[in-house]
Amino acid sequence: MESTARVKLYVAISFLYNAEDWFRFATVNESEANMEIIIKPDYPAVCDEAAGMILKAWKKKPNLVLGLATGKTPLGLYEKLIALHRSGQMDFSEVVTFSLDEYYGLDESHPQSFAAYMDHHLYKHINIRPENVHRLHGRPQDIEEHCRAYERKIRSVGGIDIQVLGIGKNGHIGFNEPGSSLTSRTRLKALTRETVEANASLFTDEEEIPRFSLTMGIGTILESKMILLLASGEDKADIVARAVEGPLTAFVPASILQLHPQAKFILDEEAAARLTLKDYYRWAFENKGRLSASKEKG
Ligand code: F6R
Repeated sequence: MESTARVKLYVAISFLYNAEDWFRFATVNESEANMEIIIKPDYPAVCDEAAGMILKAWKKKPNLVLGLATGKTPLGLYEKLIALHRSGQMDFSEVVTFSLDEYYGLDESHPQSFAAYMDHHLYKHINIRPENVHRLHGRPQDIEEHCRAYERKIRSVGGIDIQVLGIGKNGHIGFNEPGSSLTSRTRLKALTRETVEANASLFTDEEEIPRFSLTMGIGTILESKMILLLASGEDKADIVARAVEGPLTAFVPASILQLHPQAKFILDEEAAARLTLKDYYRWAFENKGRLSASKEKG
């Protein structure tokens, strides 16, 4: 199917499912309604940019609701958030978080669980309240009800203000692997053979190697008010170019972010290397800086 026809079909279907959210999208201030590509010289600068945006949002809303990813990419961002907390610039006592995903079958105490990752790399270093930390559990009694309850919880706090994402080399966001429905909600998902094989070395017992995950759906992610997708390194350059400049397709789940009015791809030079319009993105971002500086001057 032509990509434009695909977009129209997606918009029509998701409108039927979720009219209220699309109404919110449609009413976002026109001047803000753009996916944005931000290119930074290196990985620390990517993390600085993302941390700066989170800090700015928190200053306006101390009970900020964050959706948080695991993996290699956000590690530097979490270090920056911890540093902001330690230097007294950011207080997490009212901040609320939601995990993006979790391996199915692992207890929270398992060292490879995403729960353990978040505790180790962020939560134990900041003053977040345990009751404000929401996670997908690896061994829920009733999977479907657990996923539905997670969605209800997100809605009950007014939705996710900022969702942090990485991107898989195949274009996945969360564990929404290629072919995932673009309107999907939080659910159980089979991991790809590559993901299972890549994880194998982390587990001593073969039986423990996760073959499924629980993940926010693409539809769930799209309802976040702002999305920060971070990518670093040359091994992400191809998929970043396909997600940002390629056709919108379920075969590259991250390409759906082209439709989100507040999606920001924050990239280092290596991850941005294959973008055809990278000079334009740089130019547009610099000029945006000039515009806000002149607005501030009055
Ligand atoms: C992690 C997640 C994944 C990762 C992606 C990139 O919670 O959902 O989508 O963001 O696989 O992983 P890294 O950052 O390790 O390259």
